[in-house]
Amino acid sequence: MTDETSTTAVKKLFIKTYGCQMNVYDSQRMAEAMGAEGYVLTEDQAQADMVLLNTCHIREKAAEKLYSDLGRLKTLKADRPDMKIGVAGCVAQAEGEEIIRRMPLVDLVVGPQTYHRLPAMVRGEAPRIVTDFPEEDKFDHLPAPRATRRAPAAFLTVQEGCDKFCAFCVVPYTRGAEVSRPVERILREARDLVSRGVREITLLGQNVNGWHGAGEDGREWGFGRLIRALGDIDGLDRIRYTTSHPNDMADDLIEAHRDVPQLMPYLHLPVQSGSDRILKAMNRKHTSDQYLRLIDRIRAARPDIMLTSDFIVGFPGETDQDHADTLRLIEQVGFGSAFSFKYSPRPGTPAYERPEIDAAIADARLQELQALLTRQQKDAQAAMVGRTLGVLFEKTGRIAGQMVGKSDYLHSVFVEAPDARIGDLAQVRIVESAPNSLRGALVA
Ligand code: 5AD
Ligand code: SF4
Repeated sequence: MTDETSTTAVKKLFIKTYGCQMNVYDSQRMAEAMGAEGYVLTEDQAQADMVLLNTCHIREKAAEKLYSDLGRLKTLKADRPDMKIGVAGCVAQAEGEEIIRRMPLVDLVVGPQTYHRLPAMVRGEAPRIVTDFPEEDKFDHLPAPRATRRAPAAFLTVQEGCDKFCAFCVVPYTRGAEVSRPVERILREARDLVSRGVREITLLGQNVNGWHGAGEDGREWGFGRLIRALGDIDGLDRIRYTTSHPNDMADDLIEAHRDVPQLMPYLHLPVQSGSDRILKAMNRKHTSDQYLRLIDRIRAARPDIMLTSDFIVGFPGETDQDHADTLRLIEQVGFGSAFSFKYSPRPGTPAYERPEIDAAIADARLQELQALLTRQQKDAQAAMVGRTLGVLFEKTGRIAGQMVGKSDYLHSVFVEAPDARIGDLAQVRIVESAPNSLRGALVA
């Protein structure tokens, strides 16, 4: 991400983003806010006047990455004492001044709900640490995105925070309570993106399908209704959303999967475990059977939908039987792909104090689970061969005349298309499945 400007007082900003897609979105918005202060993005950390680390706190490993990166920045800052170092995101929210205590080279710490104050902090007109949950909406205080042309696929945050309090998860503490952005803001931002060349929008939220708000017709809208409204925007060809909770898969959302052609046949629906005992201990508030029946209803509405999920293995108290139940659920559903993680105890969460299971057992279970998921992913990809899918071209490939894009099912697809342009949405017949991508041919 490099930008150009003609002002002489231009300063360079380097942003490193860890973690989820919402952090990617937040980093873009912080870049815009700092752009108004005369900062342009650089990809060269060594040249930067300011380094901003937008952090993730979800697992211990993710959080510790911040400290190893800060350790490396010490030498750089020793050479260039004027360089500013900022820590943003969920570690900033969770650890606040502890970060500066451990790493005094950090100049400022800003939480995910307060980054609209970043410019004032950089100017020295706000405290060095700002991690409150303000009454005002940060989006009201951020500069409008610059009217530049955009890549064909974009993110749009519609909801933030979480009230579910799963026993393992820091999100309700780092991102705060569930808040939905108002309908008219979302539709305005979506129309603006489309006017700048965007054809695919991924709606983001920690509990995105819990979104609700007062609609344009004066009624209370659910997430399915919002998707229908987005489906009316001319030029918006693809809609996706992530991440969802099974308990918020309302009927109107399932029906949107049946009725809205722009809504892609792909759903990330984390289940975490297939054991009712563990689901209860995790405070997920549903059983494995309820999840399976929900999947049946979703597939009845949209038979070609691809499902993906998240799993945690080695949650406190997990037995061999619980693990077997999870493997069985995976067999029963058949996922297109999935993320799986070894349980990581997070300070401040209800599960933190619970006795951990043997690490070697957890490792072995993770391997077994990942082997099964990898097999399913391979099968799902192989099943694409021979099918004709939409592919939105996002960049050129390494070979001349080659385009790379995303299929309806989010697979990367390589296509020989010398006359095509980035942003074209082509019909492509899949001819081959490689480990992490597909190869396809243009359909005349
Ligand atoms: N340990 C391991 N994995 C976790 N996740 C969230 N918290 C933890 C934790 N403490 C996983 C869940 C969630 C995904 C984003 O990260 O699977 O869905
Ligand atoms: Fe975390 Fe559970 Fe909320 Fe997802 S639903 S963000 S896992 S607390």
